Amino acid sequence: MRTLIANGLIVTADGSYPGDVLVDGEVIVQIGVDLAAAGVTADETIDATGKYVIPGGIDAHTHMELPFGGTFAKDTFETGTRAAAFGGTTSIVDFAVQSKGQPLHEGLDVWHKKAEGNAVVDYGFHMIMSDVTDATLAEMDQLVAEGVPDFKLFTAYPGVFFSPDDHIFRAMRQTKHNGGLILMHAENGPVIDILAAGQVAAGVTDPIGHGLARDSRLEGEATSRVIRLAEVAGVPVYFVHMSAKEALDALMAARNRGVMAWAETCPQYLYLSLDDLGDGFNGAKFVCSPPLRTKDHAVELWNALKRDDLQVVGTDHCPFDFHGQKELGRGDFRKIPNGLPGVEERVDLIHQAVVDGRLTKERWVQVVSTGPAKIFGMYPRKGVIAVGADADIVVYDPNRSHVLSASTHHMDVDYSCYEGMAVQGGSDVVLSRGMVVVKDGEFTGRKGHGMFVKRGLADYARLG
Ligand code: URP
Ligand code: ZN
Ligand code: ZN
Repeated sequence: MRTLIANGLIVTADGSYPGDVLVDGEVIVQIGVDLAAAGVTADETIDATGKYVIPGGIDAHTHMELPFGGTFAKDTFETGTRAAAFGGTTSIVDFAVQSKGQPLHEGLDVWHKKAEGNAVVDYGFHMIMSDVTDATLAEMDQLVAEGVPDFKLFTAYPGVFFSPDDHIFRAMRQTKHNGGLILMHAENGPVIDILAAGQVAAGVTDPIGHGLARDSRLEGEATSRVIRLAEVAGVPVYFVHMSAKEALDALMAARNRGVMAWAETCPQYLYLSLDDLGDGFNGAKFVCSPPLRTKDHAVELWNALKRDDLQVVGTDHCPFDFHGQKELGRGDFRKIPNGLPGVEERVDLIHQAVVDGRLTKERWVQVVSTGPAKIFGMYPRKGVIAVGADADIVVYDPNRSHVLSASTHHMDVDYSCYEGMAVQGGSDVVLSRGMVVVKDGEFTGRKGHGMFVKRGLADYARLG
């Protein structure tokens, strides 16, 4: 099957130019001007006049079916990746979970089973490490070889995912030998627990207590502590879901010292704020960790994204219905499952920043696709429009407006964090390894088309 995408503006992280893209089977085989006139034939031609042709989005932070707070994130690999495709995302990297006392592989196998035969677009895995022992340290090397080269550890969630400093340090040292990357959830969990108990004791049981207890300085403190651990271990480090300017300050200072420290932020920290948490129990829709911050933090995050002090926008997609799931925390915000939906909205929300003049369209492609592809060992197979790359392609209409709403989205969750927000731009045609999976608002893909992506090491390791 040969597909010709003609007359579009090819937008890459490095620059934009008019051209045609020829897909044969699963890969891009030719790029040029007016390929049809040059005699190139195809089974199907997609007219991209007036549209952008971009590499499919890569969401490097999702949690399909994550067990949390006595329930499970609602999207499965089928519903979540289908929603991702509608939103122009053609690869996700989800977090497999090791429960305490379990080998890493046991957790990873569970995630393979959840995804295989169900995902609609391609997927990879990061490994959440809840236990750092001699055995799990040795297993890390094996996982790197199997294409799961990064490991998330937490200074948050005591009793669940929390790791003390010595465990984090040992895991970091292991990546010095195996080339893997440590991903950190940096908040001071034990101190937050004290503050959260204090809020409840003072009668603050609504979701706003979640935001008040999780002080932004405790994200800054944990971030700078973890950076120092990485410096001593002599390894790079990546921070997931960065939300606070204090954390950003620590990150920028480290980068100025020459430390290989990278971070992602998420649309919720750019567009939403503590005010959303303050709307009585309705604020439960916005309970995630780190929490939504006051608006001054978002100003700093936008600037950092523009300057490349932040490298990636992921979603931390972790959807729980408001009715029946978020409601588990009525009367005690500590029992509200943490997480928000967003996998479908990310590409459009960050394109809105292009419309608003905050980012260039090339930077948009960088932070939603090329950047994560490079950091997470998928480049140049993914994250780029280039001959030989997987034909994960979005024909994106930069002028089509639509309104974000739970009544029209495809995520399996009963609310949208952005209900009623109008955005300019939308994915018209989405190809996943050459297959048209979404066209003009219709799903044309197939459950099980998505394949496991065996990832390599981050770009820095290949260079070094
Ligand atoms: O609130 C969040 N972020 N839930 C998902 C788990 C995590 O920490 O990423
Ligand atoms: Zn986290
Ligand atoms: Zn997460």
